[in-house]
Amino acid sequence: MEDQAEQLREMMRNRVARPVGTAATNDDARAGIERGRRKTRIITVTSGKGGVGKTNVSVNLALAYSRIGKKVVVMDADLGLANVNVILGSIPKFNLYHVIRKQKTMQEIMMQTPYGISIVAGASGFSKIANLNEEERQSFITELDTLTNADIIIIDTAAGVSDNVLDFVACAEDVLIVTTPEPTAITDAYGIIKIIATEIDNLNMSLKLVVNRVKSYAEAKKVADRMTSIAGQFLNLKVEYLGCIFDDQVVSQAVLKQKPFMVVDPKCKASQCVQHLVGRMEKSEIKGQGSFSGMMRRFFGREG
Ligand SMILES: Nc1ncnc2c1ncn2[C@@H]1O[C@H](COP(=O)(O)OP(=O)(O)OP(=O)(O)O)[C@@H](O)[C@H]1O
Ligand SMILES: [Mg+2]
Repeated sequence: MEDQAEQLREMMRNRVARPVGTAATNDDARAGIERGRRKTRIITVTSGKGGVGKTNVSVNLALAYSRIGKKVVVMDADLGLANVNVILGSIPKFNLYHVIRKQKTMQEIMMQTPYGISIVAGASGFSKIANLNEEERQSFITELDTLTNADIIIIDTAAGVSDNVLDFVACAEDVLIVTTPEPTAITDAYGIIKIIATEIDNLNMSLKLVVNRVKSYAEAKKVADRMTSIAGQFLNLKVEYLGCIFDDQVVSQAVLKQKPFMVVDPKCKASQCVQHLVGRMEKSEIKGQGSFSGMMRRFFGREG
């Protein structure tokens, strides 16, 4: 692995490992960032195949979190084809393009939505920034740390594997892998899990599977059982089945209305499922990650 890439990952590992109460530096501003970081939970939402529902999961998960009193920011890290703002009906004046160009800070471009969550809009149509260089990625992630007021930052990534996506995975506490029951989506989800397992050492996050667009709990469970057992068997990796979201016509209707489905119909099947996902996330947080991430590291230690 490149030196610089390894440095970045080291920075991410320290981010999680630094004990509460230790100031990282004498610089006040930086110390503030470090304090903020510890409070802020980063959830990265990713997938192998495109179009499986990451953006809808990210935005509606954010809404469900905000309804239990959490301050949430959704960051659209799809730097090629951004669309978090589209499904929220927001027209941002500035986006990550301006941050990467150092014309604005991430704090400055963060915008409130009418739904109680904030967003950091992605950039669309700039192929250059869809693949940032190492230094740009590093400064991007440093900027991310300035969003200290949030309890939770949900990062909606582009589909598939790029170095950008891997960095957003590396800096998260939780990584939600979204798939649908389609064989192509399952195969690609397995592909990204394998890449995460091989590219990121000393994993400090937990991998959680969300099966979207299911017709029944049994269908979702079948997909999840298959994926979690394959990941365990062939990658020696624990992937937790977080839950499913039903295929629900309210979702596409909401997308057309440019409103989150949790807003269009908070009681529809998809909304109920997302609320359950947050319930389970909260439970897994309470249980504590120490032993789980320790277990992940042990797995990787064996692999390496
Ligand atoms: N649970 C669901 N029920 C019905 N339709 C859904 C559901 N989830 C997603 N969809 C449909 O799939 C479309 C794509 O969803 P979304 O944009 O969230 O996927 P994505 O993974 O973010 O895509 P991309 O990889 O392009 O970023 C939605 O516009 C919606 O029509
Ligand atoms: Mg998307």
